[in-house]
Amino acid sequence: MRKTITTALAAVLFTALTACGSGGDAADDGKITMGFAQVGAESGWRTANTKSIQDSAKEAGIELKFSDAQQKQENQIKAIRSYIQQRVDIIAFSPVVETGWDTVLQEAKRANIPVILTDRAIDSDDTSLYKTFLGSDFIDEGKKAGEWLAENSDGPTNVVELQGTTGAAPAIDRKEGFEEAIKSKPDIKIIASQTGDFTRSGGKQVMEAFLKSEPDIDVVYAHNDDMGLGAIEAIKAAGKQPGVDIKIITVDAVKDGMTALADGEINFIVECNPLLGPQLMDLTKKVIAGEEVPNRVVTEETTFDQEQAKAALPDRKY
Ligand code: AHR
Repeated sequence: MRKTITTALAAVLFTALTACGSGGDAADDGKITMGFAQVGAESGWRTANTKSIQDSAKEAGIELKFSDAQQKQENQIKAIRSYIQQRVDIIAFSPVVETGWDTVLQEAKRANIPVILTDRAIDSDDTSLYKTFLGSDFIDEGKKAGEWLAENSDGPTNVVELQGTTGAAPAIDRKEGFEEAIKSKPDIKIIASQTGDFTRSGGKQVMEAFLKSEPDIDVVYAHNDDMGLGAIEAIKAAGKQPGVDIKIITVDAVKDGMTALADGEINFIVECNPLLGPQLMDLTKKVIAGEEVPNRVVTEETTFDQEQAKAALPDRKY
């Protein structure tokens, strides 16, 4: 009986503490602790993004607690709950998928721990659950890819699409933007579309299947470089020349993708900038200081054709 009462009292005390506190103690000791829940290590883009966040935190004097969710939402939710328990000052994360975040973010809000979304957005009506969203405009990226194809295709064009992770903001938005841009060109048709989960092996596997089931493929639209690079392996193994027999459009512009573009194996890349660390640390300091921050910060990016890739490659950092 006494044990039950003690346990109940401890639970009440814990709830009261997490409900009334204000995250960690940055306000008292001036030291900021950030809990960052990363998607995983699925691509060259993600590796560059992780490095940018880790390096920038160090430079900004922010203590970083970092976790890798291995592309699983349940792992990210667990990591966020653990950051709440550890009473970090701020939580930042790049959501694996768009939906299913309200409950855990309400828990962070009740514990007075501010949240910043980086890279990917969530689909929630409650915008009070996060302070700001820093990242690319994925619909615009998809549009740029589609516009290039609309300008550079002639006559009937069969496209196969390698989608990113099902339910992830960049997969949903890059598809939407691309379809929007090719709408006015009825000759361009997406004849097959499947997820390759943003990985090189996924891209290769799906492309192998497409090459078997679709005898007449003109273009691959891959939602990231890694899947495009996997598709290149499959196309070569099928005895065709990537970039010539089958044109390839990708998104990201990481070094491996840019090298394939410069070598003529990819035809066009839409940039998605992974170097979000410095802006994230800047926004973090402002949020902790109680300053106003814009609710959306869009990353600036460009596009590359083969000649532009050759020029940019020597200075490409990632
Ligand atoms: O969310 C950004 C996307 O995630 C990148 O384009 C892709 O490479 C990564 O896995």
